[in-house]
Amino acid sequence: MSTTPHGAQTAAVRGDRTPQWAELSDWVQAPRAGGSQGSYRQYDLRQAFADNPQRFTQFSLQAPAVFADLSKNLWDEQVRGRLLSMAQACGVLQQREAMFTGAVANPTEGRAVLHTALRAPRGQGLHSEAVHGVLDRMLAYTQGVRDVQKSGIRDVVNIGIGGSDLGPQMAVAALDAQVHPQLRFHFVSNVDGHDLAPVLRHLDPQRSLFIVASKTFTTQETLANAHAAKAWFLAQGGTDIARHFVGVTTNLQAAAAFGITTTFGFWDWVGGRYSLWGAIGLPIAIALGEDGFRDLLRGAHAMDQHFQQAEPQANLPLQLGLLDVWYRNFLGFSSRSVAPYHQGLRRFPAYLQQLEMESNGKSVDVQGHALPYATSPVVWGEPGTNGQHAYFQMLHQGTDVIPVEFIAVKTPTHGWPDLHRKLLANCLAQSQALMLGKSAEEAALERPPTASASIAPEVMARHRTFAGNRPSTTFVLEALDPYTLGALVAMYEHRVFTSAAVWGINAFDQWGVELGKVLCNQLLPRLDSGNTSGLDGSTAGLLKMLR
Ligand code: F6P
Repeated sequence: MSTTPHGAQTAAVRGDRTPQWAELSDWVQAPRAGGSQGSYRQYDLRQAFADNPQRFTQFSLQAPAVFADLSKNLWDEQVRGRLLSMAQACGVLQQREAMFTGAVANPTEGRAVLHTALRAPRGQGLHSEAVHGVLDRMLAYTQGVRDVQKSGIRDVVNIGIGGSDLGPQMAVAALDAQVHPQLRFHFVSNVDGHDLAPVLRHLDPQRSLFIVASKTFTTQETLANAHAAKAWFLAQGGTDIARHFVGVTTNLQAAAAFGITTTFGFWDWVGGRYSLWGAIGLPIAIALGEDGFRDLLRGAHAMDQHFQQAEPQANLPLQLGLLDVWYRNFLGFSSRSVAPYHQGLRRFPAYLQQLEMESNGKSVDVQGHALPYATSPVVWGEPGTNGQHAYFQMLHQGTDVIPVEFIAVKTPTHGWPDLHRKLLANCLAQSQALMLGKSAEEAALERPPTASASIAPEVMARHRTFAGNRPSTTFVLEALDPYTLGALVAMYEHRVFTSAAVWGINAFDQWGVELGKVLCNQLLPRLDSGNTSGLDGSTAGLLKMLR
């Protein structure tokens, strides 16, 4: 149950308490009556395509700026239909409306969840005046920085971690072709000085702008790095901290105490990992300028509208979230790999890790009851084709089935069409290979030059067999521009929301990060004193070694 600001309650039923959950569980175990295939555990994609020439069209969805081919997934209309009716039984659509309209969707912190308001056009979303007030001020500020002749700025250093780092870092890398050509962007997150040192080594303090980005302005890593950067700035003869340090935070007081006078605020109803759309997006706005940043917001807003308005049969984030539940809870897949075939998206898997795993890595439901089923999969990946030469071996022939998500971009921003054709061919080939596989008979017909002559051909063939039938989704983007990136990221946000809504968990808190922070603060003085009393044997032994 979540409560709207007007007190209305929205029904939320946990997925496993719906009849559809029980039905889907049966279908995974037992052969299906009347179907050409056995149980869904044996579902064969190759057979499914042979049986249904319309499968690609039937399982493709077009959302704003994102086309998705869901046909190479281990499902059919029956499963999709049952998942959609399970979503209805869980009240996913009501929960969606509750979030969009400002209900307390993060009950353990008593907060609304309104990152969608950050990208709503002026006058259309909740808190519009406040949101657009900060946005206008921030964009006016970015114009000043981007006027490099006047501002003198050449290097922008974002100091932040988690949601105050990954989103801006991912977006600035992704949209590299549109980034101001005379500005360089650096992202320092780790409390490891090896992160800060190589950045500072090349900076001129008078030409540098430091953005201290922290929702709470209490995060150890960010404050330590910000203080170190400030000390370096002063030691290098830097003057005018107020001009060279800017803060992005909900804690304006703490930023002022640091000595920062220019701050851009946001609100507790914006979660860290959902915050790139507001002030945390300052580096993106400096990099792209006003038009680019507004395009990013427009793309995300278009996806919000799609998620809110598209029929379930055509609703991409909804179907992706349900497919995730199907794979995790019914087919038992514990991980999902993301392979963006665009080097600009190299930080996208890391961004998605926080978005999905910090949101849905929970083991109790909203009421605090232990869950009898699995939640967030492990999300991981690398850009293609690099991943192909590293871990794809395991995707093709390993013992686990890992659904893969390919992201293909039709139009590049570089001028080498030949490279791009090769990239796209690789992308298509991988999803094809995962699905088609290679039988032992096919393998036996081949004589690879590097195969050992001392191994019997039938044994060799077994090493070179691919089971195939490995599922994948392919997203196609026309171009990687701000609008498209906005839509893509918002699609993932809503997908994570959908699976969380079925699982009945709070996707917007992150209590699991607390314990380590507390223990770190307790260990810090022990590193100085060497006092190991009361510590477990391993921690005590390691602490002694590290002093
Ligand atoms: O420790 C986890 C976390 O709270 C994330 O949720 C958040 O994005 C990150 O730390 C940084 O927090 P802040 O922006 O408050 O520094």
